Amino acid sequence: MTTNTLKPVLIIGGSGVVGRRAVKALRRLQPRLPIWIGGRDTHKAAALAREIGLAEAVRIDLERDDLGLPPDADVSGVVVLLKDDTLRSLRYAQGRGVPYVSFSDFAFDIGPAVALHARHPTRAPVLLLGHFLGGVMTLVTLHLAREFKAVHSIEMGGVFDEEDVGGPAASGDMERLTKGVPSPLIRHEGRFLWASEEVATRVFHGVDGTAWTGRAYPLLDVPSLAAATDANTVRIDFAVRPVARRPPGQGPGLEVVIEITGETPEGTTKRVRHALVDTEVHSGLSALGAALATERLLGLAGGAPVAPGLYHPESVLDPAYVVERVRESGTRLWTM
Ligand SMILES: NC(=O)c1ccc[n+]([C@@H]2O[C@H](COP(=O)([O-])OP(=O)(O)OC[C@H]3O[C@@H](n4cnc5c(N)ncnc54)[C@H](OP(=O)(O)O)[C@@H]3O)[C@@H](O)[C@H]2O)c1
Repeated sequence: MTTNTLKPVLIIGGSGVVGRRAVKALRRLQPRLPIWIGGRDTHKAAALAREIGLAEAVRIDLERDDLGLPPDADVSGVVVLLKDDTLRSLRYAQGRGVPYVSFSDFAFDIGPAVALHARHPTRAPVLLLGHFLGGVMTLVTLHLAREFKAVHSIEMGGVFDEEDVGGPAASGDMERLTKGVPSPLIRHEGRFLWASEEVATRVFHGVDGTAWTGRAYPLLDVPSLAAATDANTVRIDFAVRPVARRPPGQGPGLEVVIEITGETPEGTTKRVRHALVDTEVHSGLSALGAALATERLLGLAGGAPVAPGLYHPESVLDPAYVVERVRESGTRLWTM
């Protein structure tokens, strides 16, 4: 019998709506990785720890520099599935030189984390993963864009179920978004814009042809996809589907239409439409994104542990690998 020498990864918020799915996805991917499930309510975390095995509940206090953990706590990484507006969790990871995943940042949120990384650039790999579905949509889109020599435009339209709202932390983030900084980020005619009302909405056609009026969001996918492809237009718009309009027999699932225009290797301009449909709430794929990023940063899949630096999902994960895992999870992805 071999002894398990892997150190535990700390998942703060691991007992939440996304978190419990993320720790289960990580357990499926990495059966021997010890997991610490962090939160304020350790009873909830302990029940989940028993369910997944090789896991422990730990009480987290974000008001303390040591996060309330014992001095000899020896973690291999820190994944934060809630908005830590103290950034003590990032300082904690930097202090120990271990990977850090930030999951709840909109595009306008990342300044303080970028500054902390810029102050200590060699201490830890820091992954900014506030992207749509934990980076999954950016990776899927980059995979689909591989057929083009040059990409001109990427437009994503997502339809969320009215009841797919996540837990209290997710609602708090949406409230922060709608009250605090209402302008969405888009790339429009080659410029990054905090969009005015006239360009913030867009009509797109869903998988069954339904016309939805979507609203753009300030998600990190916009700068990520623009950086990776240099497309002149990049935007992600969301619409909410009332429960009454759910397809018959379907639960609170999610659909995304990805439209890409670009130049083919033969030199012609082409527009493609792809669909992604998941019958689970959006936290399912988001959790998969978090789990795939975590195992990659730790060097448990896809290559050696990631070196200190500032990263987005497309800088650490292989799009084809992510698409494979997404399909394996039961999500349907096809060309329309
Ligand atoms: N990037 C993406 O794709 C993506 C997708 C979906 C959601 N999100 C974000 O992910 C986050 C979690 O969403 P969710 O729906 O899972 O919310 P949730 O169900 O409320 O989960 C929040 C988790 O954080 C813990 N927590 C809350 N406040 C805490 C604190 N002060 N100290 C320590 N632990 C604390 C909670 O456990 P206790 O109550 O025990 O403390 C719980 O485990 C939100 O920020 C949401 O916006 C991101």
